[in-house]
Parts: sequence; C-alpha cells; structure tokens
Amino acid sequence: MAQAQVEQARYPDLEGRSVFVSGGGSGIGAAIVAAFAAQGARVSFIDIADDPSHVLVSRLGAERVRYQRCDVRDIAAFRGAGCVRPAQYPREQCGARRPPRACRGHA
Ligand SMILES: NC(=O)c1ccc[n+]([C@@H]2O[C@H](COP(=O)([O-])OP(=O)(O)OC[C@H]3O[C@@H](n4cnc5c(N)ncnc54)[C@H](O)[C@@H]3O)[C@@H](O)[C@H]2O)c1
Repeated sequence: MAQAQVEQARYPDLEGRSVFVSGGGSGIGAAIVAAFAAQGARVSFIDIADDPSHVLVSRLGAERVRYQRCDVRDIAAFRGAGCVRPAQYPREQCGARRPPRACRGHA
C-alpha cells in the first residue's frame, strides 16, 4: 500500500473512542497520540516532559487531546488521585504503550 494511502486511511471504529498513551509527549508516543486523534479518538496521555506535551496539546487541540503529568515509575501516584486512573477510561482501547494494569478489566 502506498504511504499516502496509509496516511489517509480512516478507521471509523476509533471515532469517539477513549485512548490512553503513556509517554505520549514526544517521540513514538507523540506519534501514537497524533494518529489516534486524527481518527477522531479522544486521547489522554501522560508524560514527565511538560513542554513538548503542552505543545502537542496545542497542536492537536485540547478538545481532542488531554495531557496530565505523571511518572509511570511512581505507582502510588499513578494509582492515586493526582494521576490518571483506569476507572476514568471505561471504554479505552489500549495499545502497546499502555501502562501496567491501566487496561485491566476493560474490553
Ligand atoms: N527498536 C527500535 O528500533 C526502536 C526505535 C525507536 C525507538 N525505540 C525505543 O522505543 C522507546 C520509545 O522511543 P521514543 O523515541 O518515543 O523515546 P523517547 O524517549 O523520545 O520518548 C519517551 C517519552 O516517554 C516520556 N517518559 C520517559 N520517562 C517517563 C516516565 N517515567 N513517566 C512518564 N513518561 C516518561 C518521555 O518524556 C518521552 O516523552 C524507547 O525506549 C526507544 O529506545 C526502539
């Protein structure tokens, strides 16, 4: 398949779905965030790098992309009120970059 066809591919099943990405502020994670947002998904991502994360939200639009600072090594914080909790994402479809346990129990 030509690259242009891949970039223009539309996946209606992703429209309106909730997606969670860890390390989504830059690099491969940011590309994943952008790709899901381009499909109409509502993307929440965590990272520890505030500057590139805020730039990404500005570029993609705060109505589609949400950033929260969170260090995935701090399990207590990750589970706590100060960080993203799995219960907030009951319908998420998780990819390879999901944090441990974040998708447990969800279809
Ligand atoms: N095998 C390969 O060919 C190949 C190619 C490219 C990248 N990689 C690997 O894939 C991984 C991702 O690549 P990348 O370029 O996106 O890396 P990156 O380091 O640029 O991106 C990782 C993101 O995670 C964030 N992050 C780092 N520690 C964190 C933490 N404790 N909590 C929350 N967020 C944190 C960073 O701020 C960054 O935004 C890396 O481990 C890289 O080595 C492998």
